[in-house]
This record gives sequence, structure tokens and C-alpha cells, in this order.
Amino acid sequence: MGDMKDQGGYIAPALNGTGHTWHHPDAVIFKIIQEGSIAEDSPMRGFDEKLSDAKIVASIHYFKSLWPKEILNRHKEMIQH
Ligand code: HEM
Repeated sequence: MGDMKDQGGYIAPALNGTGHTWHHPDAVIFKIIQEGSIAEDSPMRGFDEKLSDAKIVASIHYFKSLWPKEILNRHKEMIQH
């Protein structure tokens, strides 16, 4: 994940379809928001104490609504394979 580091710290990926988030299946995205990054030095913490499961799902729906159709299609295909 070296390319995601900036000035010594991880930078948060854009969730609007321009970042690499769509390479992850929904279940992985859910888990990252719930439990935080698997990278120990990442600033991405879990939000399980702040967001209910339903709110995590709602936030995923929201940022996926920003993804271009092309990205959504590729995301769907990736999950099937
Ligand atoms: C203080 C606030 C936040 C910081 C500093 C932060 C930072 C980061 C960083 C550095 C990553 C890179 C992945 C990694 O390190 O393994 C990441 C990933 C991610 N973050 Fe956050 N984040 C924050 C808040 C949020 C919130 C509020 C959400 C959504 C509700 C969110 C959703 C995600 C998702 C889905 C990923 C995985 C996406 C990917 O790997 O492309 N983050 N975040």
C-alpha cells in the first residue's frame, strides 16, 4: 500500500468512484468501515461504536450512488467472478 502513503501517513482514498474502493466487494467495504483497516499504522479506525450496521449499509449506498455506471458495472462483474 506504499502508493497510498503521503508524507509518511496513509491518505484516505476517495470513495466517489475515483479511488480504488470499488475493487473491494461490498462485504469487505462493510468490514473496513466496521472494524477499520487491516493495516496497523492506518488512520482508518473502525466505526462500529458510532454507526449501526444499517447506517454502515446506508453510507455504502450513498457513496456507491456517486460511482459512475461504468464503475458500478465493473464492481458487479468482479463480485460474480
Ligand atoms: C477520520 C476519518 C477517516 C480517516 C482518517 C480515514 C482514513 C482512511 C484510510 C487512510 C484508508 C486507506 C485504507 C487503509 O489504510 O487500509 C481508508 C479506507 C477506507 N475508508 Fe476511511 N477514513 C476515515 C473515515 C471514513 C468514513 C467515515 C468512512 C465511511 C463511512 C470510511 C470508509 C472507508 C472505506 C470504505 C475504506 C476502504 C476503501 C478502500 O480501500 O479504497 N472512512 N480510510
